[in-house]
Amino acid sequence: MIVRHGELTFRPASVADIDVFEAQFGDVDGAGAYQWFGFTSFAGLRREAESRGLLGGDANMLVIEHKGELAGRVEWLARYWGRRDTSLCWEIAIGLLPAYRGMGIGTASQRWLVDYLFAHTRVERIQATTDPENVAEQKCLERAGLRLEGRVRRAQWRQGAWHDQLLYAITRDDSQPT
Ligand SMILES: CC(C)(COP(=O)(O)OP(=O)(O)OC[C@H]1O[C@@H](n2cnc3c(N)ncnc32)[C@H](O)[C@@H]1OP(=O)(O)O)[C@@H](O)C(=O)NCCC(=O)NCCS
Repeated sequence: MIVRHGELTFRPASVADIDVFEAQFGDVDGAGAYQWFGFTSFAGLRREAESRGLLGGDANMLVIEHKGELAGRVEWLARYWGRRDTSLCWEIAIGLLPAYRGMGIGTASQRWLVDYLFAHTRVERIQATTDPENVAEQKCLERAGLRLEGRVRRAQWRQGAWHDQLLYAITRDDSQPT
């Protein structure tokens, strides 16, 4: 069960992948300055990888491989702007292992994920949030077709301070070729 996309492969996560993510994303150097929220448990991810392959729910994940090697993960999480059955959108997220950053994988993976989610789910809107200082992720999102919608003030408590978040989104109409 895999999807190939150029040099990248997307496939469901295994418990062994979660072990690698815990080892590599478990501290501030590995998680990246904008994704370090303190120590956290990976036990729930392991359980969900075993029970449902981290797919088919409100929190979903695929592993990214680059030339056959584990490079990171993409996620899509259910978000509701109103009633659950009429207001669902996906919020996408990404984390690359440190050795695979700065190679264009972030852009290609999020572009692929947007196409995949519009093709395989009925959502009208896909959104993402990122830190105003995370220029690499902002470039990736814009190159994947998402547009800046606004700034959510003092949204995250992280490393001793409140941080704003930028809200990006793409709608199904935006994603159609003109
Ligand atoms: C953020 C992340 C997904 C970006 O993916 P990536 O594959 O490294 O990014 P790309 O190689 O596609 O590069 C994106 C652009 O940002 C630029 N960039 C990278 N790091 C940068 C930095 N620190 N400051 C400014 N620009 C930066 C790159 O040069 C590139 O622009 P260019 O093509 O004009 O040179 C990845 O670095 C990552 O996983 N970081 C840690 C976790 C994280 O921050 N996730 C996002 C949370 S919202």
